Amino acid sequence: MTETKNIDAIYLHIPFCDKKCEYCDFCTFVKMEREYQKYTDYLIKEIRMHPKYEYDTIYFGGGTPSLLTIEMLASIMGELKYKENSEITLELNPYDMSFEKLKQIRELGINRLSIGIQSFQDHVLKFIGRQHSGEEAIQVFKDARKAGFDNITIDLMFGIPNQSLDDLKKDLKKILEISPNNVSIYSLIWEEGTIFWSKLQKGILSEIDQDLEAEMYEEIIDFFEKNGYCQYEISNFARIYDKDVEVYKVKNFEDLKKLQKNAGKHNLKYWRNKEFVGVGMSAAGYFDGERHSNVRTFRKYYASIDKDEFPVDENSIEIVDKEEKIKLERMLGLRLIQEGIEYFEDERVEKLLKDGLIEKVKFEKGIDTRIRLTKKGMLLANNVFIEFV
Ligand SMILES: C[S@@+](CC[C@H](N)C(=O)[O-])C[C@H]1O[C@@H](n2cnc3c(N)ncnc32)[C@H](O)[C@@H]1O
Ligand code: SF4
Repeated sequence: MTETKNIDAIYLHIPFCDKKCEYCDFCTFVKMEREYQKYTDYLIKEIRMHPKYEYDTIYFGGGTPSLLTIEMLASIMGELKYKENSEITLELNPYDMSFEKLKQIRELGINRLSIGIQSFQDHVLKFIGRQHSGEEAIQVFKDARKAGFDNITIDLMFGIPNQSLDDLKKDLKKILEISPNNVSIYSLIWEEGTIFWSKLQKGILSEIDQDLEAEMYEEIIDFFEKNGYCQYEISNFARIYDKDVEVYKVKNFEDLKKLQKNAGKHNLKYWRNKEFVGVGMSAAGYFDGERHSNVRTFRKYYASIDKDEFPVDENSIEIVDKEEKIKLERMLGLRLIQEGIEYFEDERVEKLLKDGLIEKVKFEKGIDTRIRLTKKGMLLANNVFIEFV
């Protein structure tokens, strides 16, 4: 693997959690405190295998990166070169998070938090195996603001078997109490190999009704639209500051920038199909015309790095040639509700337009330059994406 250009985004995977949530299939391990230091050391070695890029977005994901000690996080940060106004995000589980630690994390230069709240309803949290209550999550959010984090995104989930439409409405209302800059809200995915998956196989759990799930998603879209958030991606909503941008659906890149000021800059790069470096077990990376992800066991991860080789899982490598790149740009870009993708003449596009799943939009200089999902298209997004595979 050779890297020549400048890459400005890096994802760092921290594969540790206190307890495994029943729905989650991320590469993460519990009760591994004894591994934290060694893993940190190897992560640093892997960072050093890449050119010393100047990053403008850095993302600590997991697992639960907030479990690492301040010293460990500081040593990783010390390895990274970044621009002055870079967005540096760390994922955090509200369980067992003190104000003191939040302050120390902020002092490291980390300026954005992604807090995994999932729900504010205690019975839902208990059901999915979380260790914190709704109130505790709110307290951590408030502490984070006090600790100096003026950019916070939260994760919520819907479509959970014991979650009613009313529970979801209550969750949405709570958002207004804390006013996060960004909200990511995903419907539950039944991942093979999770505890939820085996409960589904055994008939202990069942999926929620599809109509209810669609109703929940519509409720979410309407709620954010009415409450000053801009839906910029299928599952992401950014709080709008600029009162001068009145139109909900923007028509030019200038307004878009204002509207999306609170959007996650790092994730926007994924959807815009920009290149990024990924370090740590299971981390995905994309550069030099190749997408790949790293190995998922400590043994393989350490062994590759000891041999001074990138710890890439050979089976994960996908070559991204010119044709594939265009395909990816279209598939990922269509997730972006406001900006969509550049219009192109094609039978499939015309059919989707006719069916009302996408719309053409005069984005610049009064000509139809872009296409993007309509509300109907958002509800049937998979039917749209499949056309571009
Ligand atoms: C790495 S976790 C966030 C940080 C921390 N580990 C936590 O859970 O609080 C990433 C997010 O992915 C979402 N997620 C994980 N598994 C999911 C699933 N099976 N379906 C939908 N969302 C899921 C959750 O919202 C979670 O907050
Ligand atoms: S959802 Fe977060 S805390 Fe729960 S197991 Fe997955 S990564 Fe860990």
